[in-house]
Amino acid sequence: SGHPGAAARGLRFTPVAPNTTDAVTIPRGYEQQVVIRWGEPILRGAPDFDPARQSARAQAGQFGYNNDFLTLLPLPGERGHRLLVANHEYTDEELMFAGYDPERPTREQVEIAWAAHGMSVVVVAEERRGGALTPVRRHRLNRRITATTPFRLTGPAAGGKLLRTSADPRGTEVLGTLNNCAGGTTPWGTVLSGEENVNQYFGNAERVTDPRTAAGLKRYGFAGGPSERRWEEFDHRFDLAREPQEAHRFGWVVEIDPHDPDSVPRKRTALGRFKHEAAQPRLTRDGRPVVYMGDDERFDYFYKFVSGRRMARGSGRAAREHNLTLLDHGALYVARLTGDSPRDQIDGSGTLPRDGEFDGSGEWIKLAEGDTSYVEGMTAEEVYVFTRLAADKVGATKMDRPEDVEPSPRTGRVYMALTNNKDRGAAGKAGPDEANPRNGNKHGHVLELAEHRDDPAARAFSWRLFLVCGDPEQPDTYFAGFPKEQVSPISCPDNVAFDPHGNLWISTDGNALGSHDGLFGVATQGRYEGQVRQFLTVPTGAETCGPVVEERRVLVCVQHPGEVDGATFERPASTWPDGPGRVVRPAVVCVWRADGGAIGV
Ligand code: FEO
Ligand code: CA
Ligand code: CA
Ligand code: CA
Repeated sequence: SGHPGAAARGLRFTPVAPNTTDAVTIPRGYEQQVVIRWGEPILRGAPDFDPARQSARAQAGQFGYNNDFLTLLPLPGERGHRLLVANHEYTDEELMFAGYDPERPTREQVEIAWAAHGMSVVVVAEERRGGALTPVRRHRLNRRITATTPFRLTGPAAGGKLLRTSADPRGTEVLGTLNNCAGGTTPWGTVLSGEENVNQYFGNAERVTDPRTAAGLKRYGFAGGPSERRWEEFDHRFDLAREPQEAHRFGWVVEIDPHDPDSVPRKRTALGRFKHEAAQPRLTRDGRPVVYMGDDERFDYFYKFVSGRRMARGSGRAAREHNLTLLDHGALYVARLTGDSPRDQIDGSGTLPRDGEFDGSGEWIKLAEGDTSYVEGMTAEEVYVFTRLAADKVGATKMDRPEDVEPSPRTGRVYMALTNNKDRGAAGKAGPDEANPRNGNKHGHVLELAEHRDDPAARAFSWRLFLVCGDPEQPDTYFAGFPKEQVSPISCPDNVAFDPHGNLWISTDGNALGSHDGLFGVATQGRYEGQVRQFLTVPTGAETCGPVVEERRVLVCVQHPGEVDGATFERPASTWPDGPGRVVRPAVVCVWRADGGAIGV
């Protein structure tokens, strides 16, 4: 796989070899640039980044920490400008602050962390030559959304008694968004973002006495005792003993309108509450959005939401307002997958069954629609707030950590990254099934789903494993049937995106093959189908996120560089991106072809 030639259009570059270099390594003939780093000022009045004098006030006007999801939107009417939107999933205080004491954080450190969470909207200018992008500081559309920005709860569970707190007795307004992992870009110009591991921000779950609330907290992984960051000592809403229902107000898909910096962002309860990895919509033939969603936990589920309303075309106010209601009205489903090979051929080894494929059929089980529940013993409100419990009851298929999902704009087939599951087949845990066929699944797999008659609203689908990741020299890997000596090794797929040629791009988190995480491209049809090719690798301790692949530009988020056990601000494990003696900083990177040509052509 070492030369550029024999590959699908869009993937004709010299693959990068697996490595452990503390850098972003890209193919020969390509150039790169850091677009924006943690702490760079984007709002009016925000100071330049100075780690010795960082303040919550400064951070609230600066790019946040740990960028994960990324999208680059058109900005009509402003020539040469684009709108970059990124998520800031979480903070790593040990790397952010000199002398950080995890048992005694200061109020200022906690408030900096609140301001470093959330999302950023930044206008960027495209260089006339090359692919570089320059942030436009103080642009009127630039925006920071943080852990304290007011959000409106909308949809069928909004205002219900499960979402009320002492600060918000109406159950409709929440401060902030947390653990925003991946997301999606809607055809109506908004951005969706998944609130993922929100359990980590809340303390004292063991002191919750109401049995239903306690059971819900347990199923969602809320642990007893102090939280990792001790926020409950600085704001009572993070103390479950005092405000148990604040936890119910996180774990949603949020929708923001990046074109209106004054808009109130929404939390969409119709899409259910779980550890939302991402949310990517596509439209039915009659124009209704369908959103695919993974719940990133070992043995959790794959969901979809089907709107009952059609998208309005155009960018006028009436159309925009209508489109902001699309995700409040519809039905929520969870997936059950059934293999077509005999059970005794799915032995947990990852060896293909005799029909040559891990594949089968599936159904979407309806959980709720509007105020109607389809789950015995649960109200619709309970289904939305405790969606995991609803899916448990209907016998949904327990997957190997469902991460990002992306429908192919070319074929309509839907691709889901299942990142790994060390507990598959362990004592007391679910054993292998055809959709999750490897015990102790270290390297993960990518599932391809085809809706019945290519109707996104269908109740039935077929599926197959497109990739079974890992070392191509091992018998338990599979690359859609492509010769394995011609593929790049890939492990722990996380984010997925399509390029303009219809190739799937996959970024990884947690590479278990001994080299750094990276970004890979693979054709999903044609003679090169399954030929995985590595485009870049990221620095020490980082995961690769948010890929955006355009004709002339590839962008990735380099998340948590330097995050290695025992590393601290004083003893960094990485010197990326600015070299020795400088603070390691999560950042967005752009790559383009040095000769100005199209990527991989
Ligand atoms: Fe935030 Fe599932 O990765
Ligand atoms: Ca089969
Ligand atoms: Ca992820
Ligand atoms: Ca991940």
